[in-house]
Amino acid sequence: MLEQTFVIIKPDAVAAGNVGAILSRYEEAGLRIHRMDLRVIDGSFADRHYVEHLERDYYPPLREFMTEGPLIALVLTGDGAVARVRALHGATDPSVADHGTIRADFAESTRRNAVHASDSPETAAREIGLWFGEG
Ligand code: CDP
Ligand code: MG
Repeated sequence: MLEQTFVIIKPDAVAAGNVGAILSRYEEAGLRIHRMDLRVIDGSFADRHYVEHLERDYYPPLREFMTEGPLIALVLTGDGAVARVRALHGATDPSVADHGTIRADFAESTRRNAVHASDSPETAAREIGLWFGEG
């Protein structure tokens, strides 16, 4: 089923010059770019994106990280895009991410882990609305 998912190439990966390599992973998997924007977000916007994480111990440094420099916000489309992008990304902690996943290849740490992707179609709809309006 054709689906949309929301993705962030996080500030660590943009600063390291890994944007092109990461975008290629999606395109080579047959996913297509529907929306794409380089932007810097502030802390209150990070709070809205990570609303389910606000009370976590790891949130204050995560908020700092996500606002430290430019990131790439993306909407990707394709059959089963939500699950397929999560599989391409690998585990949150790159030290246990499967070989060949984006996080295994590009993430620095559990926090600075290169990419974000929606975890369900419902989350994708919320995140696409937050970042791109209803587009
Ligand atoms: O991004 P993903 O859905 O794989 O992981 P999450 O559990 O929803 O956590 C969101 C983000 O918080 C992660 O991608 C990490 O950047 C960060 N995080 C962290 O800094 N420390 C943790 N112990 C867990 C997550
Ligand atoms: Mg998550």
